[in-house]
Amino acid sequence: MIDTIDNYIKEIESFNSNNKDEIEQFRIKFLSKKGIIPDLFNQLKNIPPEDKKAYGQKINILKNKALDRIKILKAQSESRQEESLINDLTLPPEPIPVGSRHPVSIVRNEIINIFSKIGFVVAEGPEIEDDWHVFSGLNFPDEHPARDMQDTFFIEKDPDVLLRTHTSSVQIRVMENEKPPIRKVFPGRVFRNEVISARAHCIFHQVEGLYIDKNVSFADLKQTLLFFAKEMFGENTQIRLRPAFFPFTEPSAEMDVSCTLCGGKGCNICKYSGFVEILGCGMVDPNVLESSNISSVEYTGFAFGMGIERVAMLKYHINDLRLFFENDVRFLNQFKGDVT
Ligand code: PHE
Repeated sequence: MIDTIDNYIKEIESFNSNNKDEIEQFRIKFLSKKGIIPDLFNQLKNIPPEDKKAYGQKINILKNKALDRIKILKAQSESRQEESLINDLTLPPEPIPVGSRHPVSIVRNEIINIFSKIGFVVAEGPEIEDDWHVFSGLNFPDEHPARDMQDTFFIEKDPDVLLRTHTSSVQIRVMENEKPPIRKVFPGRVFRNEVISARAHCIFHQVEGLYIDKNVSFADLKQTLLFFAKEMFGENTQIRLRPAFFPFTEPSAEMDVSCTLCGGKGCNICKYSGFVEILGCGMVDPNVLESSNISSVEYTGFAFGMGIERVAMLKYHINDLRLFFENDVRFLNQFKGDVT
């Protein structure tokens, strides 16, 4: 009897295979309910009591050998399989996850591209500013409410150091350093002390435009903005200019575009008016030209400024501004196709 078990042990030790099915057959032969090992355990009852212990120990050794052998062979065959997968040069590659541009960057680049077609070049200025470039140089009277702590993040007082509340500050910096003709756009981040909601955020982005030359008129402003609106939102887009007030432009206007969602018929995005506001604009106030040492007799100009998030919301029909700042990849992944 013991000899038979020794033979089984030899068989187990010499068994070798990389084939999963063969290994399984081997397991069934020795370890399944009707296999050799359970059968040997069954025969224990026929063994004389004095031999039982030695016999039992021997079957246990046999059982452990069988279990170990199967474990080793299974592990070997799995790693073989992996190796053969790695070596299979015909397999398609794993896709490399590629990021996408942020919608604010896509729309900013698109705005810049549109204006560059009609001769505007990009200039930039600092986000941390002084009172002159954000307010005084732009003809804000001392007591103007926009200087109020409500809107402006002040870093220091007297002399004021603050976060710019609009990109109009770059107008002043450009006019200080350059003589007309000036035809530039200023993209950038701006800051306002606003309660965060679906429509407002304390940080957002603007693109400002400035054109100064001899004989620049309001008609030029209107034509430039119509060109922009059609390029941005489609050939059938209409614009509407409403009188408005900004300290640094006179006359001033706010521009609406025909609603991108309903095409002007009226829907809840445009509050059934058919139009949505997208920017502020106007003829540069003579005071602003003069304070930057540009003759308001010789030169005229126009300026406009728009929120990039606002344009992106209209373009992509996004109804919550906060989505731009949360950086949820499920939101950002939707812009994969837009590579501008
Ligand atoms: N700076 C204005 C704003 O932030 C927009 C504007 C720019 C208006 C240029 C007129 C001319 O609302």
